[in-house]
Amino acid sequence: MKFDLLKKDPLSKARAGSITTDHGVIETPIFMPVGTVASVKGVHQRELKEDINPDIILGNTYHLYLRPQTEILEKAGGLHKFMNWDRNILTDSGGYQVYSLSANRKIKEEGVKFKSHIDGSYHFFTPENVMEIQRTIGADIIMAFDECTPYPCDYNYAKRSMKMTHRWLDRCVTHLDKVPVKYGYDQAFFPIVQGSCYKDLRQQSAEYIANTNQVGNAIGGLSVGEPAEEMYAMTEIVCEILPEDKPRYLMGVGTPINILENIALGIDMFDCVMPTRNARNGMLFTANGTINIKNKKWEADFSPVDEMGITFVDTEYTKAYLRHLFAANEYLGKQIATIHNLGFYMWLVREARKHILAGDFKPWKEMMVKNMNQRL
Ligand code: GUN
Repeated sequence: MKFDLLKKDPLSKARAGSITTDHGVIETPIFMPVGTVASVKGVHQRELKEDINPDIILGNTYHLYLRPQTEILEKAGGLHKFMNWDRNILTDSGGYQVYSLSANRKIKEEGVKFKSHIDGSYHFFTPENVMEIQRTIGADIIMAFDECTPYPCDYNYAKRSMKMTHRWLDRCVTHLDKVPVKYGYDQAFFPIVQGSCYKDLRQQSAEYIANTNQVGNAIGGLSVGEPAEEMYAMTEIVCEILPEDKPRYLMGVGTPINILENIALGIDMFDCVMPTRNARNGMLFTANGTINIKNKKWEADFSPVDEMGITFVDTEYTKAYLRHLFAANEYLGKQIATIHNLGFYMWLVREARKHILAGDFKPWKEMMVKNMNQRL
């Protein structure tokens, strides 16, 4: 994997760059649509490619390991072939999903014992077996096995957990060297900064992660319920320490406003379920704010879903029609809303990139934040 830093914004820490892997070029800043179980919910791969056009999507080790199971992915020749996606894929390690199971998991130094949400069976993840599973899934970028701490988190717990995440990272790195890639293309490995919302822990963790000298770095443990200002403060501290010549991935973030604010702090990569999940609940993101399409006020509004939107659904359907689909609980409503929201997120990061390259990112970002902070 290669990262080229193309331009730095003069008035913020924003950067435009490009990542090149064996599955193509990823222009940064980038938003990665989430395809947890080898499917971006509600969107065909063809629509994803032609209408939304992301350079990279995300899959989840936890879910893919449980279903269809690693063995099936190996027989298929890896996740790209299994789901017919020939562009980049990143897999998260399961650290976050296992954290979300809260009552159904037990964390120890050796690893995490957890109960499957599918059939209640017990499984054990370790840094070592998670590296093997990610080799078999075969994503282009794979993530370290970490513990994502909750918010709020007691200082001593956060510190102990961060240190364990660092020891787990060392185990991941040692083991990866022993497990060759399976499908003939490279896999880049990203370690993850933790440290909850404590400045000193974030600094220590960023230094530890940077010193491991991997090809890219990630920040975890944010967007777990903390106020946005705390998230930005942590991102800022960590970005000052992480090397400039490597991509920085902020995991699980966030709203369109969170994304622009974090781009301004030096983040290059994002993923979040928000555009897809909220779409299924009738929430649309637009450049002028959010829309609850289920609202009666749209009942006879025959204007396009989003006249400025980049996808075909934005101009081919009206708000009244989309509201009707939600009222009638039709699948198509969720599909249209999902395509719209993903199209909007992709548009947002591409515009950010254009403005960084043009040198006017900061005033553009400030205008966008103001506009997007409205409910329509
Ligand atoms: N996704 C969002 N936050 C996190 C995190 O802290 N760790 C991992 N592995 N994935 C995440």
